[in-house]
Amino acid sequence: MTIGIGLLGLGTVGAGVASILASPEGRHPLVAALRLQRVAVRDLNRSRPTSPPAELLTTDPEAVVDDPGVDIVVEVMGGLEPARTLILRAIAAGKPVVTANKAVIARHGEEIAAAAAAQGVYVLIEAAVGGGIPIIEPLKQSLGSNRIQRVSGIINGTTNYILSRMAAEGAAYADVLADAQRLGYAEADPAADVQGGDAADKIAILTRLAYGGTVPRGAIPTEGIDQLEARDVAYAARLGFVVKLLAVAQLMEAEGEHASSDHPLLDVRVHPTLVPSTHPLAGVNGVNNAILVEGDPVGQVMFYGPGAGAGPTASAVVADILNIAGIRQATGGSGGSLDPLLAAGSWRTCSLVEGSLTTHRNYVRLRTRDEAGVIGKIGTCFGEAGVSIQSIVQFAAQDQDGGDADAEIVVITHEVLEANFRRALARIEALPEVESVAACLRTL
Ligand SMILES: NC(=O)c1ccc[n+]([C@@H]2O[C@H](COP(=O)([O-])OP(=O)(O)OC[C@H]3O[C@@H](n4cnc5c(N)ncnc54)[C@H](OP(=O)(O)O)[C@@H]3O)[C@@H](O)[C@H]2O)c1
Repeated sequence: MTIGIGLLGLGTVGAGVASILASPEGRHPLVAALRLQRVAVRDLNRSRPTSPPAELLTTDPEAVVDDPGVDIVVEVMGGLEPARTLILRAIAAGKPVVTANKAVIARHGEEIAAAAAAQGVYVLIEAAVGGGIPIIEPLKQSLGSNRIQRVSGIINGTTNYILSRMAAEGAAYADVLADAQRLGYAEADPAADVQGGDAADKIAILTRLAYGGTVPRGAIPTEGIDQLEARDVAYAARLGFVVKLLAVAQLMEAEGEHASSDHPLLDVRVHPTLVPSTHPLAGVNGVNNAILVEGDPVGQVMFYGPGAGAGPTASAVVADILNIAGIRQATGGSGGSLDPLLAAGSWRTCSLVEGSLTTHRNYVRLRTRDEAGVIGKIGTCFGEAGVSIQSIVQFAAQDQDGGDADAEIVVITHEVLEANFRRALARIEALPEVESVAACLRTL
């Protein structure tokens, strides 16, 4: 039995998928049963290093979805529309979908999942998070017996590349970004990566799989690396940390009227984070991604590898195609009823915890006058707000900064309630010796 594949997009990922389908030798025998039936592109005249036969290409993506020879629709065109509409069109026609599109799944995942469940078709998304790293299927299936306590990850390769170089070279953010753009590691418009939106899309997807319920994508607190200063990366290194853009989803202790095992309260966020240099995520450098899953009873499991690129991403897309193809083969083409683990529907309601009720360790850099007693006053403000300090270090301010400050004081707190920490900062900012709170980062 051959299985017809309709490809929506023949860019980086689409070309990678076409290349695997064109060379089944040495791969799982099911790959040879996959036949590229139709391919949608935007521009037929674009020169492509390798391309399927010209007669398969069309600029009409609906024709790909509707083609009776297409059994599985593979959406690798990106963007919200027409991708969303095409995915829903495929589902309505009873065709399973494989997509790498985290933006559309993070925003319209519930609508798409509901349509898929109603039609009894799969929508598989392994490539949407972590590129070539298997993380979606492990969360759905291999770790299914666990209560997940925390999922934390480096899930944006562009920012990890920039942060790795800032740490290694002491370079400024803007200089490394410009270089990354020149080398093709960052887009001409890097906003989605450097402002954290791409990582927020991905942690929204992982949250749903880890905790069985959706959190609103727009409500995830998101901070990127675009305001990060080289000196904070350098101070972090002197204090035994590396700075990483982490995306975190964490189960809060069940507390309050809304929290229960049927209705978990989650702390989900994206921000630059000081990671202790001995932590497993600290050694993840360059464009690599890693996701650390902490569950009961499994403990810590880390997934590491290439988070993007034609080959790795296509590896994940074709794995999803094979999952569906395998079921079709086993059921004689009917597909049968949906496997609940592979389909991974929501099974409970999740809520985001209010920010002031979260607890964190913090890194704060204050620009101050170099006077006797300043550190004592700062310590008093923290202490009176119930914030305990792990370390407090003074550095000389750098000449080019301007202003009156001639010292920089870096404070690392213990894990404290966000509301208390903010109260302490407000009092510190009002001290006459303190010129500004120059940086404020979370610490693992
Ligand atoms: N690149 C990665 O490493 C990576 C990793 C993980 C996930 N993803 C996700 O995979 C998806 C694809 O990414 P990509 O990097 O492969 O994108 P890309 O290189 O920009 O390719 C997009 C492809 O879709 C086609 N296309 C776009 N809009 C179209 C339309 N309206 N009608 C017909 N064809 C259309 C384009 O046609 P033309 O070729 O004619 O322009 C192109 O072939 C995105 O959702 C992305 O987030 C990418």
